[in-house]
Amino acid sequence: MSLNIKVPCAGNFARPTLGAPQVPRDGAVTPAEKRRLSRPFEAINIPHKKIKKICCIGAGYVGGPTCSVIAMKNPNVQVTIVDLNAQRIESWNSDELPIYEPGLDEVVKESRGRNLFFSTGVDQAIIEADLIFVSVNTPTKYTGIGAGYAADLGYVEAATRQIAWLATSDKIVVEKSTVPCRTAQSMRVILEANAKPGVRFDILSNPEFLAEGTAISDLIKPDRVLIGSLDTEEGRAAAASLADIYASWVPRGQIITMNVWSSELSKLAANAFLAQRISSINALSAICEATGADIDEVSYACGLDSRIGPKFLKASVGFGGSCFQKDILNLVYLSESLHLPEVAQYWRQVVDMNEYQKRRFTNRIISSLFNTLTGKKIAIFGFAFKKDTGDTRESPAITLVKYFRAEKALVSIYDPKVEESQIWMDLCEPGIVDDLPALQKQVSIAASAYQAAEKADAVVICTEWEEFKDTRLDYEQIYDGMKKPAFIFDGRLVLNEKRLKKIGFKVETIGRPGESLRNPEFE
Ligand SMILES: NC(=O)c1ccc[n+]([C@@H]2O[C@H](COP(=O)([O-])OP(=O)(O)OC[C@H]3O[C@@H](n4cnc5c(N)ncnc54)[C@H](O)[C@@H]3O)[C@@H](O)[C@H]2O)c1
Repeated sequence: MSLNIKVPCAGNFARPTLGAPQVPRDGAVTPAEKRRLSRPFEAINIPHKKIKKICCIGAGYVGGPTCSVIAMKNPNVQVTIVDLNAQRIESWNSDELPIYEPGLDEVVKESRGRNLFFSTGVDQAIIEADLIFVSVNTPTKYTGIGAGYAADLGYVEAATRQIAWLATSDKIVVEKSTVPCRTAQSMRVILEANAKPGVRFDILSNPEFLAEGTAISDLIKPDRVLIGSLDTEEGRAAAASLADIYASWVPRGQIITMNVWSSELSKLAANAFLAQRISSINALSAICEATGADIDEVSYACGLDSRIGPKFLKASVGFGGSCFQKDILNLVYLSESLHLPEVAQYWRQVVDMNEYQKRRFTNRIISSLFNTLTGKKIAIFGFAFKKDTGDTRESPAITLVKYFRAEKALVSIYDPKVEESQIWMDLCEPGIVDDLPALQKQVSIAASAYQAAEKADAVVICTEWEEFKDTRLDYEQIYDGMKKPAFIFDGRLVLNEKRLKKIGFKVETIGRPGESLRNPEFE
């Protein structure tokens, strides 16, 4: 799908002028400004359709949890979540859901079979629905124009065409996937060009802000729900219909309706800001390691400043997940398409810093292990991109294993939630390793942290799972089973360094000076 970008997406908000009243510290806008920036509830409190049947295309990390919560909170609305992937649907209908999220099992059990259905019958669900969420994947393009940066909108386009071909009654089509600014326009053109006579489509943007690992609590208590629509009577009525669905549990004041382009861009912008904070604190972690400052102390001190706040200031081996990198690269591509190379370069640096952090951590491991990893066993604790999810997309562990393999190390991986088959698939990804037998000579998957660390030269913590904390695992047992000197590299700031050193470990922590720089006088 080609993006016809002509209009910058800056929205139509006036710039604040000098001498304007001061904005309070605890929020970006005053209540008066809020009324101007977001369409007030009165603007959408117009005659509108009551939604009875919802279809969600895409039963993934977003579509599954989001529409399960919608079904739980709207028992009178029939919600059908469809996917082309039959295996995924089968799992959604079983006791072993395809994704791990705290609280998800209970939410699904409450409504499944009552007003929540999982099905491969995509066509039927589209035909019956009044409102359709498009919640399909939008991965970064690997080839063609914009390769490595632009979002691949092929799945969004395919789903849009399918809706256009099948619909025999009016539909509200909701863009739930994260897409570049102005994608709704492309969807509208496709829908209108293929619509059956008399069938009307209204397009809304309703980006999802949930974070994996806390998806259910994020959905039940969202900071805000964004609904972007055209500023026409029909557009506002469609927004009102969707707002009613959320209003079953979200206070009206937190349901924000706005211009569709602002809504689309706000999602990319929010992820870019969050990732930027992580890259900023990670850049500072390099300075800490070189100076003797402690990154946890620095982030604590900065986080106490209410203008900054503590969230997303935890240094680590790097961010991962399906969204941050993809969405920032998407923003970089959008900036380039708009002939704004400096803006593109600014955001690209957030991703570059993330790559640098993974490389830097690996280099530290190599130099600590006497400058060679050849034949050494490295135990990787954690393969998911963060705790409380089994998702491994863009996980830093994948990159680290690639680096360790290049250094001829032997790697043993343990993760409490990631399936073994997923680990092999990630490590065999084209461009990473494409020879499974060779891979399996160097890499093994362990059933426990203890097994992974048995006879290892080093333990590397890649994911901050609670069970890796020194209050949960028996690190004395781990130490006893390891080669000496036994190294532990904490890439997630989860360990009490002093306690582990007492056991005998050589401990290297991200954002803290290594053994060579440490001055015992100050410890
Ligand atoms: N994962 C997150 O934390 C998160 C958070 C917010 C937003 N998002 C965005 O939401 C979107 C979906 O992400 P996800 O993580 O759920 O992806 P996912 O890959 O887990 O799920 C997408 C699903 O859509 C299905 N699909 C694709 N085309 C289809 C079609 N034509 N008909 C039926 N099913 C089809 C796929 O089979 C897949 O199961 C992406 O744009 C993503 O950027 C993701």
